[in-house]
Amino acid sequence: MTDSRPFQKIAHIGIAVADLDAALAIWRDQLGAEVSDVCTMPDRGLKIAFIPVGESLIELIAPLRDDSEVSRFLEKRGPGVHHICLAVDDIQARLDLYRSRGLRLVNDTPSIGAEGYPVAFMHPKATGGILLELLEERSEG
Ligand code: CO
Repeated sequence: MTDSRPFQKIAHIGIAVADLDAALAIWRDQLGAEVSDVCTMPDRGLKIAFIPVGESLIELIAPLRDDSEVSRFLEKRGPGVHHICLAVDDIQARLDLYRSRGLRLVNDTPSIGAEGYPVAFMHPKATGGILLELLEERSEG
């Protein structure tokens, strides 16, 4: 793993929205974007819509309930950019490397995200204030 280009691309930009239908009305009906996929993640309390942008995605994230993963963010900051997700070659190796450098992680090991790939979050304190998600694109599983 070379450290000169650890990130392959911006996998997606996550945007927290209070109301997914209202957000889709803006992105689809007014901005003219195509929505590729809408999925619900009941365990995380989220409903998510993806909008392809080149080889990246815009990820619209709406809460399904008051204790969802974006509820506190929406309460504190209101709708807006929630996180940036970068694709890496080997997510576990990356997490281990960053932890060994003393960087604070939200997740020590990856879980499967809305796109079906392993993902993990780093703590905003480790990255100068932004919530950074790492993602490993795998051809299977
Ligand atoms: Co994400």
